[in-house]
Amino acid sequence: MLKKMILIVGLLLVLAACSGNPNPLPTGATPIPTLIPATLPPRDFAAETEAKPAPVEVSFPAAPPSAANGQALYEANCAECHGLDGKGLVPNARDFSDVAYRRGETPLNFYLNITEGHSGAGTGDDMPAFGDVLTSDQRWDVVYYAWRFAAPDESLIAGQALYAENCVECHGVNGRSRILGAADFSDQRFMSDHPASQLYVSITQGRGNMPAWQARLSQDERWAVIDYLRTFTYDPVLAAPEGEAGAGGEEAAAFAPTEVEEPEKPECAPEYLEQTNPFAWDDADVIAAGGELYSQFCTRCHGEDGTGVADLAYVPADLTNPGIQTLLHEQGGEYVCRVAEGLNEMPAFKRQMSPEEMWQVLTFVGTLGD
Ligand code: HEC
Ligand code: HEC
Ligand code: HEC
Repeated sequence: MLKKMILIVGLLLVLAACSGNPNPLPTGATPIPTLIPATLPPRDFAAETEAKPAPVEVSFPAAPPSAANGQALYEANCAECHGLDGKGLVPNARDFSDVAYRRGETPLNFYLNITEGHSGAGTGDDMPAFGDVLTSDQRWDVVYYAWRFAAPDESLIAGQALYAENCVECHGVNGRSRILGAADFSDQRFMSDHPASQLYVSITQGRGNMPAWQARLSQDERWAVIDYLRTFTYDPVLAAPEGEAGAGGEEAAAFAPTEVEEPEKPECAPEYLEQTNPFAWDDADVIAAGGELYSQFCTRCHGEDGTGVADLAYVPADLTNPGIQTLLHEQGGEYVCRVAEGLNEMPAFKRQMSPEEMWQVLTFVGTLGD
């Protein structure tokens, strides 16, 4: 009896400990896990790469590797064991077309395996070293040819369209960021060392000034856009497939990278652009009045602190962004124009607010970067 009591008390204690979670999930419709606080400082990608010394053998290619160049090298050196279709012919050889396996892999790891070889742990099925057989650039070419077995054309095509629609405004047409602190997807060191699974977490949950995409893109869309992101570090275009060879598949439309267009903003009329703030940017009364207008008209999208509400179907501009803050103070007329006329999903406010009130709210917005 006593034993039973002790057991029950013990069980209750354990239960109490579990329910006393100091960080309970918000009780919204779909709890979105936010392991990463929204206010992380911008990442210094260069410093991160330096902090993690790469093995001496890695020499990163000067120009983007080419999957097409890798094809002949692959067929001559690798296909006997890995198969023309990448599925693997010898024991222990992985199936390169297995998407789930590949999501946890990195191009850098492929490169290291090809360079140094890999022992099949006593099974006698070894992966030979190609460090002396192929040049470093050839090894990168072959890495990305092998990579394409699990990055089919359809995925790249879908990813390119999603990128153009959702990502280009911050990450730019070449994958080089257009805003402070955004990752550079053309950086081979960064991209080749990050598995899709890791980028997927950042995209899903958001990171730093990047919003979460969980509520905006489906899982398949998020994986497809990651496949596309890598094309900023290699040329994925394959030679037209002949017969059974060719990683691209016979029937599917071939992926052809097109220059993604940066979204254009409609021109602002000169009467807006000529305007300057009639108030002092630090006038406390104006800031207070502007704050009230902001709560009334702007908070529902831009959030109280200006960083933007996470769960909208689109991304409201982050008003704390240093780029926006600088432009606001230097060329405020353009922002009066946006508030008055609206911009894409942002409604026009010229019927709700006088020009004076718009400048009040912008004076308040000017404090959000502090
Ligand atoms: C003689 C057969 C053979 C040849 C030739 C060969 N491989 Fe391998 N490869 C293997 C085996 C077996 C493994 C698995 C080794 C192990 O047990 O980890 C492997 C592993 C790999 C891996 C690591 C996959 C992983 O995650 O475990 C990569 C990448 C790879 N090979 C690429 C290539 C490329 C590219 C070529 C041509 C340049 C090539 N291999 C040539 C047999 C071969
Ligand atoms: C509002 C601007 C913005 C938009 C839109 C945006 N990003 Fe980002 N993204 C950022 C910023 C800023 C960072 C750097 C975050 C940090 O590490 O502080 C980033 C980082 C990333 C990273 C690197 C994450 C890591 O693990 O280091 C990936 C991957 C990424 N973005 C993918 C995307 C994709 C895909 C889209 C489109 C679906 C997208 N981003 C749209 C601003 C944006
Ligand atoms: C319905 C949601 C919504 C509301 C309400 C809203 N905005 Fe926006 N705002 C957006 C979106 C979305 C963008 C990004 C538009 C784009 O670049 O496509 C944006 C962009 C901006 C920009 C940056 C414009 C640029 O050129 O980069 C400023 C400044 C701004 N909003 C201020 C305000 C102010 C001030 C209010 C309140 C009077 C407000 N917004 C209300 C959604 C909203």
